[in-house]
Amino acid sequence: MPLTAGLDWLLDRTVVPGYSRVGSALRRHWWPDDPAPGALAGTTVAVTGANSGLGAATTLGAARLGAEVWMLCRSVERGEAARDEILAELPDAAVRVHRCDVSDLAALPDVAADLRREVPRLRALVHNAGVLPPERTVTDDGHELTLATHVLGPHVLTDALRGPLAADGAGRVLFVASGGMYAQRLYDDDPEYTLGDYSGTTAYARTKRMQVHLAEEWARVLEPEGTTVHSMHPGWAATPGVTDSLPAFDKVMGPLLRTPEQGADTAVWLLAAREARETTGLFWHDRRPRPTSYLSRTRPSPEHVRALWNFCVRTTGVPA
Ligand SMILES: NC(=O)c1ccc[n+]([C@@H]2O[C@H](COP(=O)([O-])OP(=O)(O)OC[C@H]3O[C@@H](n4cnc5c(N)ncnc54)[C@H](OP(=O)(O)O)[C@@H]3O)[C@@H](O)[C@H]2O)c1
Repeated sequence: MPLTAGLDWLLDRTVVPGYSRVGSALRRHWWPDDPAPGALAGTTVAVTGANSGLGAATTLGAARLGAEVWMLCRSVERGEAARDEILAELPDAAVRVHRCDVSDLAALPDVAADLRREVPRLRALVHNAGVLPPERTVTDDGHELTLATHVLGPHVLTDALRGPLAADGAGRVLFVASGGMYAQRLYDDDPEYTLGDYSGTTAYARTKRMQVHLAEEWARVLEPEGTTVHSMHPGWAATPGVTDSLPAFDKVMGPLLRTPEQGADTAVWLLAAREARETTGLFWHDRRPRPTSYLSRTRPSPEHVRALWNFCVRTTGVPA
C-alpha cells in the first residue's frame, strides 16, 4: 500500500482526525485535482436545503464553477437571505431560490413539475437537506420526519427529475449522508421508527444509512438513462445544524470542525469530477470512495437493500 493510501486508511479508521479539518488538510496533498475553472458552465444544479451550512457552501462552490444553481429551500425568505450572501461574495453567480419542503411528499409533484418546466436539463440534483429532531415528529403525510426528509422526499424528487437529468447527458444525483451511518444497520424492518424509545441521533443515523443504500439502488435504476448516483459524507463541519442539534459536540470539537466549504468539498467536486461519471453507486468522503460498512453487523444483505427500495416504492408510489 503506498504511504498516502496507508495514511488515508488510518485517518478513516481513527475517525476524529479523518472527519475533522485535519483530515481534509492532509488529504488535499494527494487527493484528485480540483475541477477546472468553468467546469460547470452552461449546466444547472439543484441543491436542497441550500440556505444554510453545507447546502449554501455547495451552492457557492457550484456557482463558482459556472453552474446556474437552483436553491431548493423550505423557506423562501431564508433562501433569499442566503442567496444575497452568495451574491455579495460572487456577484456574477446565477442563483435562484425555489420553495421546496422535501419532507412534504404531497407537495413535491407540483414543485418538481415547476422545476421540469424551468429546467429542461439538469446536471445534478444534490439531496442535502437534513434534520436531527429532538423528539419523534410526524409529517402531515404521516411519516417520521428524518425518514421523510432524508429518504422518502429525495426518492420522490429523484424520480420526478429523472427526465431533466437524463436530458443533460451527464446527469448525476448526490445524497449528502453522514459518517454517523456507520453506527447503524439498515432498519428496513422498522423504517418509521415506531418501536423502542425514540432517539433523534439514532433516527438520523438510520436514515443516513438508508440514503447510502437507496443511492445504490437508484444508481442501478438510472444507469440505462445515463445518470449516475452517488452518496458522500462531509466529515464534521461547523454549521448551524451542528451548533443547534449537537451543542455539546460542537463545544468539544469546535476548533477541529471543518468550515462549511471544507465539508462541502467532496460534494462540489463530485458535481464536476470525471470519476463521478465513470462510476456509479459509490459512497465518497474526501474525494475517494469509502466502504459503506466496517462492521459485519451493519452490512446489509442485497435482500435488505431490496426491501428498503420496495418500501420506498410502496410508500410513495414511485417509480410507477
Ligand atoms: N455539518 C456536519 O458536520 C454534517 C455531518 C454529516 C452530515 N451532514 C449532512 O449535511 C447536510 C447539511 O447539514 P448542515 O450541517 O449544513 O445543517 P444545517 O445548517 O442545519 O442545514 C440543513 C439545511 O436543510 C434544510 N432543511 C431541513 N429540512 C428541510 C426540508 N424538509 N426541506 C427543505 N430543506 C430542509 C434546512 O432548512 P432551514 O434553514 O429551513 O431549517 C437547512 O437549509 C445534512 O443532510 C446533514 O445531515 C452534515
